[in-house]
Amino acid sequence: MHPTQSDCQSLPHPDLNDALQEIRATVGDFSPFACLILGSGMGALANEIQSSKVVPYREIPGFPLSHVAGHAGKCVFGYLGGVSVFALAGRAHLYEGWEPQHSCFPLRCAAAMGATSLIVSNASGGIHPRFRSGQVVAIDDHIDWMQRSPFCSRHHRETTRPLGLHDRHDALYDARWLDLATQEALQLGFSLHRGTYLATLGPTYETRAEYRMFQKWGADMVGMSTVPEIVLAKHLQMRSLAFSIVTNVAKPDSPTKTDHAEVLDWSQQAQQQLVPLIEKLLPRMQQSPL
Ligand code: HPA
Repeated sequence: MHPTQSDCQSLPHPDLNDALQEIRATVGDFSPFACLILGSGMGALANEIQSSKVVPYREIPGFPLSHVAGHAGKCVFGYLGGVSVFALAGRAHLYEGWEPQHSCFPLRCAAAMGATSLIVSNASGGIHPRFRSGQVVAIDDHIDWMQRSPFCSRHHRETTRPLGLHDRHDALYDARWLDLATQEALQLGFSLHRGTYLATLGPTYETRAEYRMFQKWGADMVGMSTVPEIVLAKHLQMRSLAFSIVTNVAKPDSPTKTDHAEVLDWSQQAQQQLVPLIEKLLPRMQQSPL
């Protein structure tokens, strides 16, 4: 399914049963523990999945397709670190014209198949002065400057009772899992920084004035994804962990050019840390009580 710029609101809400029927034709009654959303250049993690079965997005009714380089557009089902996973190699972005109810539909499918946890990766611009390109940062909070909620749809309003406002006193990013990630990273020989991720709608990178403003607001990284997925996961009572790969460093006081090739290069390098980290974390996450 592809949107045009203006017709997304009028696209029908995708149907879970249609999508699950297509997926089940390949994977039977496979039930994933975790849904993995693999961001820009992070597709290599999907190659590590054992006993894998693949279903391309284009074969699943309602799955949104991405045209951004570095997003393969396939679901990979199997085992990572011995734990059952449903990996989404590639995500559709809101800046491609999708609304959150479409871009987050694969996550809804994972939850309907039994996934109770979510691991997200993305690429970001580093705003914290100590961040460097290629660094992996665990997201421990976010600023929603994208302002597109998966709950602002007529379908959500008509199917959710009671329709409440969503408060944010509960942590969106699981504190126990953040601690586990810190411990495992140390075992693997690197220190995992934490930071606040600010999401913009995109698709433009920031002006220097915007980087400066986001820094004042308390953001450590800036990117164009993840927040709708994390917000929906909470609503679906899933526990979440998110990693951001810093692919360029914001320099508010000297003009520098950011391009997507650089973003992909750095995220591919960071996979050397992130892939073993996720592989080691999954079995511990599965054993970690609430
Ligand atoms: N800004 C927004 N999104 C990004 C950036 C950035 O600097 N780098 C990678 N994704």
